[in-house]
Order: sequence, then structure tokens, then C-alpha cells
Amino acid sequence: MPTETWTIKRLLQWTTDFLQKKGVDAPRLTAEILLAHILKKDRLYLYVHYDQPLTLYELATFKKLLKRRLSHEPLAYIIEEQAFWSLSFKVTPAVIIPRPETERLIEVSLEIIQQRGLTLPWILDWGTGSGVIAVVLGKEIKKAHMVATDISFPALKVAKENAFKHKVKIDFVLARDLTLFKSTVFDIIVSNPPYIKTEDIPTLAPEIQYEPIEALDGGEDGLKYIGYLLKKAHVYLKSKGYLIMEIGYNQRKSIEKLIASLPCWKGALFFKDYAGLERVVVIEKNHG
Ligand SMILES: C[S@@+](CC[C@H](N)C(=O)[O-])C[C@H]1O[C@@H](n2cnc3c(N)ncnc32)[C@H](O)[C@@H]1O
Repeated sequence: MPTETWTIKRLLQWTTDFLQKKGVDAPRLTAEILLAHILKKDRLYLYVHYDQPLTLYELATFKKLLKRRLSHEPLAYIIEEQAFWSLSFKVTPAVIIPRPETERLIEVSLEIIQQRGLTLPWILDWGTGSGVIAVVLGKEIKKAHMVATDISFPALKVAKENAFKHKVKIDFVLARDLTLFKSTVFDIIVSNPPYIKTEDIPTLAPEIQYEPIEALDGGEDGLKYIGYLLKKAHVYLKSKGYLIMEIGYNQRKSIEKLIASLPCWKGALFFKDYAGLERVVVIEKNHG
């Protein structure tokens, strides 16, 4: 990058062209987000201050962040922030970057809670990561009692920061299974568990390789944790409770087969995401 004085406008134009040539997604947006982050301003500020010259320090910092993005590091990790459900969440490499499919999981969960008329629900978010599910459900259902677990202590630290930032009370628990809970306490167990087949992970986009493996790896068949929850979650659900999970787009058949072998469940409903893929499953506990 040339070292002469640069204005916001020139730097944005130059970076957009540069990123486009390098094949980086959303080049203009990336340039704007990085520059706004460095200037500690919002993106609108850039447009209103097009002619503002940048200092050498700002330029050097920009160059450093640009290099990280060119090495495929996700933008969210570089700026330590991701928008989700119109809120801003802290993210670090200790947690996966929340995805739009997970917003669908939350929408479906809210529909179920409303349909059932649950006004004071006890909800467990299993594998909370950055805490997005627990925080959003806690915000949307004011009287919910939210509990969130994760196997990762650094992830729980991020989730706690997000709960604090959004003023949601959540009981966080470091745990690898459900056994520390009393039976039949929860109305809903919601989870976006790791569900990618181990062998598929290295074939995924280079950006995904920056995300924590324990958040992605669903074992040999991708069903290690989905299977675990299907086998155990009913014990911790109240009568008429629900297990609601995000799943892989091609996992419906295997999940149906598993459910059919488990009399603890009444049946499953599958919901599509906005790309038309079945990405959410709702399973009702068999109380008969
Ligand atoms: C796919 S990420 C979901 C994170 C977050 N809920 C979201 O939707 O963005 C799965 C999470 O499950 C956690 N996890 C993996 N194994 C676990 C286990 N045995 N017990 C609890 N959490 C686990 C991972 O650390 C990770 O944070």
C-alpha cells in the first residue's frame, strides 16, 4: 500500500479494488467495517467524513488488519464483534461466529413457547458458545429462567460478557453432560450442537478452520451430540417439554431413524431455514 497521505474515500476505494482482485467476499463492506473499527466510529461516519485524512498509525493498523483478512481470518474475529438478531455480540476464536440458521432456531423456539403459552419457562441452552441463543431468548421472554452450558471455559467467559452487555440474567454452567441437573426441570432444551462430520471439516472454507474444533466436530457421522441429546435430554425435560436443535441440512433421515428407536419422544417436526433447507428439529417429550 503506498505510504502517502490517504483520505477515508481514497482508502476505501483502493481497498475495495484490492480485495476484489484478491477474491475476498463483500470487498466494499469489508473495507468499511475494518476502517470504521479502527476509527472507533460507525460506517455512516465514513461517508460523512470522506475527506478526512488518515494518520500513519491508522494506516499501519488498517494494513495489519487487512493482512489478517487476506489470510482468511473471519472479519468477526478481527473486529471481535458479530451482529445477530439485530444485536451486537462479542466473538473471539473461543466461540463460533453465530450464523443466520441459528436465528431460525430461535424463531422456531419462540413460536413453540408462544403456542404452548409458556410464560415462565425454564430453558437450557446446551453448548452456548458466545451465548447468542440464551441471550436472545432471555431478552425476548422476560420471565424465562435461562441456564446455559458449555464444555469450554473460554467460551463461557465470552457468553457471560454478552449476557452482561445485553442485561440478561443467565445461569452459566461449565459442563460436558447433563448429569448435574435435576430431572424434569426444563420446559425447553435448545441447542446448536456440533454436527459436522469429522472428515468434512478440513474440506470446509478456510475461514471455518479458524473456528474452535470442539464447536464444529460432531464425530464420525456428525451425530455424536445430536444422538447424545436425543438419548438423554428427555430425563431433564418436564412432561410436554421440547428438545429443539439446529441440525445439518442432510441429517433429517438419520435423526428420524434415531427418534423412531427412542420411545421417550412423541415425534419430530422439521423446519426450513430461509434457504429452504431443513435446519431445525423440534421434538416433543412423550408424556403418554
Ligand atoms: C455449534 S457451537 C454453538 C454455539 C452457539 N450456541 C451458537 O449457536 O452460535 C457448539 C457449542 O457446543 C459446545 N460443546 C461441545 N461439546 C460440548 C459438550 N460435551 N457439552 C457442552 N457443550 C459442548 C462447544 O464448545 C460450542 O460452544
